[in-house]
Amino acid sequence: MSIEVSKIVQGVEPSATLAMSAKAKELKAQGETVYNLSVGEPDFDTPKHICDAAIEAMRAGHTRYTVASGIPELKAAVCADYKNRFGLDYKPTQVVISNGAKHSLHNAFFATLNPGDEAILPAPCWVSYAELIKLCGAKPTIVQTREEDSFKLTPEAFRAAITPKTRMLLLCNPSNPTGSCYTCDELLELAKIAVENDLFVVADEIYERLVYDGAQFTSFPTVLDGLQERSIVVNGVSKTYAMTGWRIGWLMAPENVAKKISSLQSQETSNPCSLSQYAALAALQGDQACVAEMRAEFEKRRDYVMSRIAAIPGMSAPKTGGAFYVFFNIRNFLGKDYGGVRVETDKDWCLELLQQKKVATVMGSAFSAPGYARASFAASMETLKTAFDRIEEFVAGK
Ligand SMILES: Cc1ncc(COP(=O)(O)O)c(C=O)c1O
Repeated sequence: MSIEVSKIVQGVEPSATLAMSAKAKELKAQGETVYNLSVGEPDFDTPKHICDAAIEAMRAGHTRYTVASGIPELKAAVCADYKNRFGLDYKPTQVVISNGAKHSLHNAFFATLNPGDEAILPAPCWVSYAELIKLCGAKPTIVQTREEDSFKLTPEAFRAAITPKTRMLLLCNPSNPTGSCYTCDELLELAKIAVENDLFVVADEIYERLVYDGAQFTSFPTVLDGLQERSIVVNGVSKTYAMTGWRIGWLMAPENVAKKISSLQSQETSNPCSLSQYAALAALQGDQACVAEMRAEFEKRRDYVMSRIAAIPGMSAPKTGGAFYVFFNIRNFLGKDYGGVRVETDKDWCLELLQQKKVATVMGSAFSAPGYARASFAASMETLKTAFDRIEEFVAGK
C-alpha cells in the first residue's frame, strides 16, 4: 500500500533558501571550501547573558509545559517593548508566543484566511509567505515592485491588485530579500488604502532592529489611529538577538484573533520551548548593547557589499536599508557561457556560481523575482571579501 499525500500538501514547494544552503553543505561535506552567502541567520553566537538565562531556567525547574500561548512574563515584556519603543498599547491577551516568527505567520494566516480569499504579496517576497497562504486554501496575489522604487509597493500598484476577494496585505519591513525599508509616509499611504478597502495587514517586522544610516523604524500600526484593529504584527528574537535555533517568535493581534490563535496553538503544538521562552525574556529585558554591536557590524558589511556590487560593471542593487541582504540585478549576466556552460536563468547563474566558484547565493526566482540574486551579508568580512572577489572573476569569465 502506498500512502497518498493530500492535495493541499502536494502543492507545497520546498524552501529554496534552505535548498541552496543544503547544496552548499553538500559541497562542504565533499571537502570544498564554500563561501556561503545564502543563509538567513546572523553568524554571531547568542549573547552569553541570554544563554545563561536558559541554563538558570533549566536549573529552576522551568522544564514543564507552560501556558500554550506563552509565559505571562514574556508576553508582558513584548507589550512593554512595543510600548517603550513605538508607543503602542497592547495587552498580554493580544500576544501569542510561538515556535519562531514563521510559526506566528502560519498562525496568523490560518486564523484569518478562508479558502478562496486573496492575500496581496509585494514581490520580491520571502519564500514562505506564498506557500503558507496556499496551505490555508487562500490565493497569494503576487504584485511585482520595481528596482527603481527600491522594491517597495506603491499605492498605485496596491490599489490595482485589490479585487472583491482581497482580504489581506502582507508587508515585510525591512524586507527579506531586498533590504528595503518603508518610510512613515509610505506606510501611511498604504494604510489608508487598506482602510478604504476594509483589508487587514500582516506586518512582518522581524528585522526591525536591523536598520542602517541612523534611520528610525516605523512600526506599521503607529501610522494611523485605529490601525491596530486591522493589523497583525509579527516579530521575534531570531534575527535581533542571533537566536534562530531557539525558535521564539510572536504576534500581536486584536484580542478576538489572538484568543482564537491561542486555542489553535493549544491544539497544534502546545507551548513553544519553555527554556527558550526564558531566554527570550532575558533578551528583551537585558542589556541591549549586544543588539547595537551586531547592528553596527552588519552596517559595516552592508557598506562593503554595496561598494563591491557598485564596482562590477552591469550589476546593480538598490541600497539595503535594513535586514542583512542585498538583492542584485544579474540580467546583464544571463544568456552567456560560463566555463563552457550556458547560463540562461538566475537559477542557472546561482548554481554555476556555486559549482565553479563555490559561492552560494539564492536565485531571485525563489522570491518571485527572476533576473536577480540575493546575497546575505550575515557572514564574516573575510568571507564576504573572498566571495565578491570570486563573483567578480565569475562575471568577467575568469
Ligand atoms: C521575513 C522573515 N520573516 C520571518 C522569518 C522567520 O523567522 P523565525 O526564524 O523566527 O521563524 C524569517 C526568517 O528567515 C524571515 O526572513
